[in-house]
Amino acid sequence: MHTVRLELPWDADEWRKHAREALCAGVVPEAISWAGEAQSGLFSGGPNPLTPVRTAPRVSREFLSLIEAVLCHRDPHRHGLLYRLLWRMAEGEGGLLERATDPDVHRARELEKSVRRDNHKMKAFVRFREVPGDTDAFVAWFEPQHYIVDRVAPFFARRFAGMRWAILTPYRSAWWDGTRLGLGAGANRDDAPTDDANEGLWRVYYANIFNPARLNPRMMRQEMAQKYWKHLPEAHLLPDLIRTAGPRVQAMAERMPQAPRRKIPAQPAQQPAADHQGMPGLKLAVGQCRRCPLWEPATQAVMGEGPDRARIMVVGEQPGDEEDLTGRPFVGPAGKLFNRVLDALGIDRETLYITNVVKHFNFQQRGKLRMHVNPLARHVNACRPWLKHELAIVRPDVVVCLGATAARAVLGTRFRLTDERGQWRTLSGGQRAFATVHPAAVLREPVATREALLRGFERDLALLNDIPS
Ligand code: URA
Repeated sequence: MHTVRLELPWDADEWRKHAREALCAGVVPEAISWAGEAQSGLFSGGPNPLTPVRTAPRVSREFLSLIEAVLCHRDPHRHGLLYRLLWRMAEGEGGLLERATDPDVHRARELEKSVRRDNHKMKAFVRFREVPGDTDAFVAWFEPQHYIVDRVAPFFARRFAGMRWAILTPYRSAWWDGTRLGLGAGANRDDAPTDDANEGLWRVYYANIFNPARLNPRMMRQEMAQKYWKHLPEAHLLPDLIRTAGPRVQAMAERMPQAPRRKIPAQPAQQPAADHQGMPGLKLAVGQCRRCPLWEPATQAVMGEGPDRARIMVVGEQPGDEEDLTGRPFVGPAGKLFNRVLDALGIDRETLYITNVVKHFNFQQRGKLRMHVNPLARHVNACRPWLKHELAIVRPDVVVCLGATAARAVLGTRFRLTDERGQWRTLSGGQRAFATVHPAAVLREPVATREALLRGFERDLALLNDIPS
């Protein structure tokens, strides 16, 4: 019997190296033993020496991706299963992976699916907590079903590139220092903070956006299995929210019809929770937002940027391609045009707080291009509390809406940009506001009329030079 001892049983490179050696030496699947997880990493000796008798076959991309996923599964027989598949393909069973009813293929696909599901859950349910005494470092505790930390960690490095974080699990840890991703031994639950100041913010947000009329506990449990609840700040609220959903729906029905609320409400006399947490807490909470599906294909949430107490807040629609990649608002073509106009008017961009109604990039992939898609009302509604928190923290004197989406979100859905742009309004919170065209609309305008639209855009923004100090 040929015994293979794997140091990292989920590592595809390591498994492939051993599988290739065994295959080239003609070791049949029944004559190979893959050392189990419990023993991995503890061995000093290498595998039994093998003599190559044939060359290694090429394997398809599809099989490579199957190998990478299946190795992350906890099934102790997965190494042997993959080797059997490899062996059978090398023995001439072409198109094996297409035979979905083949027991080996079927089992491998099952394992692959389960690992993919676990990846998705980890991306959705990891929650970072601030490290006490270190305002810029965050730790999350998570218990994945499979060995997926190495596989999913690069996703978190891209998504939370701007902060230092660690994800601890019982078998493996991953950390990011702002430039490098590290992977190492597992940890204990107690090594991670259990609560932090941002939890309060997250809970306030969750309780606000929870819609009792749309509650479907069965679907909810399917999507957010109860085993993940213990790590989710919002989960503590769920039993109560579910218990009170019926009476709340009834109360809503009895209150109807009710005049729709069209404006961002007045700033409450009492400070909202966001103000206690400040901008860093809000930024973290927005970065972890899973309220609508836009978070998933996007690279990261793009929070507003600028002084916490800016006098002027500029609200755009949603991040574009470059904003999504850099994590900063208005840095792409529309942002460059906006900067040029600000320069021409003598307005310093650094003094403005610039944000968007929707914090994730909504796009459609066309080949290599990611094409902007307008956010839907449900995306705007899901994101609305974040804008409210930004308004509550920054407390600007003036709000400028760029484009119809921002105008409708801030000034009400009846607002008509073509008729009402460049006209001062007063929000119910007392701030003065006006809307103008979106700079991206100027860029999209046919050449013949672009100049006129640009002049109008400049004229509207020139209102900012007249606000009394
Ligand atoms: N368009 C927007 O509305 N916001 C950005 O951040 C970039 C482009």
